[in-house]
Amino acid sequence: MARDGAVYVCQSCGAAHARWSGQCTACNAWNSLVEESGSAPPGALQPAKPSGRPGRTRGLSFEDLKTETPSPPRLATGLDEFDRVCGGGLVAGSAILLAGDPGVGKSTLLLQVAAAAAARGAACAYISGEEAIEQIRSRAQRMGLGESPVKLAAETSLRDILEGLKREPLDLVVIDSIQTLWSDAHEAGPGSVTQVRAATGELVRLAKRRGVAIVLVGHVTKEGQIAGPRVVEHMVDAVFAFEGERGYPFRILRAAKNRFGATDEIGVFEMSDAGLREVRNPSALFLGEGGERAAGSVVFAGVEGSRPVLVEFQALVAPSAYGTPRRAVVGWDSGRLAMVLAVLEARCGLGFGDRDVYLNVAGGLRISEPAADLAAAAALVSSALDAPLPQDCVVFGEVSLSGEVRPVGRMEARLKEAAKLGFGRALAASGAPEGAALKVIGVSRLADAVARIGEGALS
Ligand code: TYD
Ligand code: MG
Repeated sequence: MARDGAVYVCQSCGAAHARWSGQCTACNAWNSLVEESGSAPPGALQPAKPSGRPGRTRGLSFEDLKTETPSPPRLATGLDEFDRVCGGGLVAGSAILLAGDPGVGKSTLLLQVAAAAAARGAACAYISGEEAIEQIRSRAQRMGLGESPVKLAAETSLRDILEGLKREPLDLVVIDSIQTLWSDAHEAGPGSVTQVRAATGELVRLAKRRGVAIVLVGHVTKEGQIAGPRVVEHMVDAVFAFEGERGYPFRILRAAKNRFGATDEIGVFEMSDAGLREVRNPSALFLGEGGERAAGSVVFAGVEGSRPVLVEFQALVAPSAYGTPRRAVVGWDSGRLAMVLAVLEARCGLGFGDRDVYLNVAGGLRISEPAADLAAAAALVSSALDAPLPQDCVVFGEVSLSGEVRPVGRMEARLKEAAKLGFGRALAASGAPEGAALKVIGVSRLADAVARIGEGALS
């Protein structure tokens, strides 16, 4: 039996249990329950006090909206790659969670965001529970932000932070990180679900009440030992992921949730000795080395959010040395790869059963558009048949299970971007728009594309 008042909280999903057990019944995680004492369910929000006024409903139309609540003001920081992912700047009174692996560059990014906003006259504070003020200063110095009017604090006590914030009128507050905060109202240790949830709740309320934009840093740990920011995701207005492949300098900011903007926008940065550099034209970056294209290398004309992005798909198809052939994929969905391989096998007569297949998206970008199907298929076929594609050819199109190649959205934007970067033709679904920026080789079935690649008939 549980001791009086003891609750066992899953550190993975935040579910509270009355008894300890080896597996959380809510999310099925093993060994994730930790005792956190307290009589109320941990992190439970206080019940709302009745206001005495009867609740009332409002109209949906913008006319009604205008008279009641004007659209919230935005604070454009001037760091365009960041502002775009926000949906045009930080919304006053909103809370954002910035999640990412340790060392990916979250602190660096947010220091730059705060400095950029401060340079435009916004009152910004950067509160770190991870580093001493001196450390932050020397980092800022190295990044050329030594003279920025950002206010710094090294603080982990939630109560002190809240008191401090109440005194100063601020536009932007960065909390680095939510796992280091500690509230004396709860007994659980810093980083536990109880503490993380309580701290986030308080900070989100403060943001709403005072119209401050708050950015919370959340570490993601593979082991899930520390309370993951999962519980926080539901409490904030936006969740941004900051991603980067080990060994590549590129960092991608992606919105996983955004109440004030689209979730398919990306911001692209490059880590340098002096902080993160904005990459305004990512296509050039992801194209890999120029020169002759080897068999298996295909340029995909993709779209990420509002921007067309060209990126290189590399495939290697090789005889398998073992009974079970290997399938390895980096930067694309492995389920999607399995589907494309099955379609190539069933509809185009290309067998991969005794061959290893490796597929890689260059530059560390992760592609999730269905439009990449044809590019991935072309890369696989090109490698399998040892038939390089013409150097000036881009590829895009969705592949269906029946082996059809389907047209995809934003065709003109894709073609225009490819033409701008010196490409002369595109392998895509039939039905090119009139006056296309470059020559479109239209195919309606994947088998046509395979035949053309095999015969070198892509002109
Ligand atoms: P950091 O922002 O501390 O990562 P996080 O807050 O996500 O844990 O940055 C981590 C890495 O970035 C660190 O290994 C060093 C590198 N870095 C640079 O390469 N150049 C720079 O100017 C800075 C500030 C950091
Ligand atoms: Mg950090």
